[in-house]
Amino acid sequence: MASRRRNFAAVAAVLLSIIAVCKGDLKSGASYVFGDSLVDSGNNNYLPTLSKADIRPNGIDFKASGGEPTGRFTNGRTIADISGELLGQRRYAPPFLAPNTSGSVLLDGVNYASGGGGILNATGKLFVNRLGMDIQVDYFNITRKQLDDLLGKAKAKEFLTKKSIFSITIGSNDFLNNYLLPVVSAGTRVAESPDNFINDLISNLKNQLTRLYTLDARKFVVANVGPIGCIPYQKTINNVAEDECVSLPNQLARQYNGQLRDLLAELNDNLPGAKFCLANVYDLVYELINNYEHYGFKTASKACCGNGGNYAGIVPCGPTSSMCDDRSDYVFWDPYHPSEASNLILAKYIVDGDTKYISPINLRQLLALDD
Ligand SMILES: *[C@@H]1O[C@H](CO)[C@@H](O)[C@H](O)[C@H]1NC(C)=O
Ligand SMILES: *[C@@H]1O[C@H](CO)[C@@H](O)[C@H](O)[C@H]1NC(C)=O
Ligand SMILES: *[C@@H]1O[C@H](CO)[C@@H](O)[C@H](O)[C@H]1NC(C)=O
Repeated sequence: MASRRRNFAAVAAVLLSIIAVCKGDLKSGASYVFGDSLVDSGNNNYLPTLSKADIRPNGIDFKASGGEPTGRFTNGRTIADISGELLGQRRYAPPFLAPNTSGSVLLDGVNYASGGGGILNATGKLFVNRLGMDIQVDYFNITRKQLDDLLGKAKAKEFLTKKSIFSITIGSNDFLNNYLLPVVSAGTRVAESPDNFINDLISNLKNQLTRLYTLDARKFVVANVGPIGCIPYQKTINNVAEDECVSLPNQLARQYNGQLRDLLAELNDNLPGAKFCLANVYDLVYELINNYEHYGFKTASKACCGNGGNYAGIVPCGPTSSMCDDRSDYVFWDPYHPSEASNLILAKYIVDGDTKYISPINLRQLLALDD
């Protein structure tokens, strides 16, 4: 009886959502989020992996969980969470791998991102398990069919092409946890020039974005790779001064970012009806680091949560790490990831900023296109 009542409630919820979509009530749209630990909302909780954030004190400032860890690799909300909130979306896109991400929930967006994941399948092998971009697109293909079942083919297509934003934040791990690894990939680095490696990334990403297009994605926002030579981990292992960054990782990121800009311009020209926006995370994070005091931070070099070296940059954040007193004083939450305070600034620029940081149009304009 109870279970029949639950089924009825579930069916009613699906029907109400369908009615909302058909009436065009979902003005705020839905976000389908792809990427790595910068935007993972908990997929790795369901994987046997060494890349985990479902341990304290991660999530300590995440209001929706009362400060309990959720699998997000930061103290609070990710850039994806905050962007969705600024656009008026009804909930944070839930992890694809969560068993209750099903039925009408899919209409509010889904998160496929995975800590340790990269553009290349091999990236993140050292974590044993993670979802790379190819697999994330395979998973979206599963959601795609479920949306057809939920809405009918015509409505599903309209919902995806008009009301849905596809956000892709990927590439850092291809450099950090593949190309730049001293031991594991020494062979790769000797065998493959930076030019070839970056060409390989761009051609794989082109294929992944084109696959999403064939599945009716039209409104894309693709983040470039941040200044990975400035993260506490790189600064610690390379032992650079407080106001310095490590040059090779930043150089590789800039080279990749230049080619990414060209790729998105090419896709904008060649894929009819698609709009690809470039989120210039590199310049944004660089600006935060360079002018951290202007943005209200006290340090842009030390991790709030972590251990090791001058910048707490070796041991990832966990129950035995030291943690700073005021999280909002820190640009970096842990050796790799920005704090929620940073994410708030980044998301505001991406949603409502100008072409310096988000081009050719911002996320709010992207969502409103041919509405
Ligand atoms: C799924 O279940 C989890 C754990 O009970 C809960 O926190 C979350 O809000 C649920 N997600 C959705 C989309 O209902
Ligand atoms: C990566 O793995 C996926 C799924 O296993 C596979 O379909 C794809 O061809 C692989 N990509 C490359 C470049 O090897
Ligand atoms: C989606 O899945 C179907 C099979 O279920 C397959 O034929 C199709 O090629 C897939 N599309 C993409 C873009 O992977």
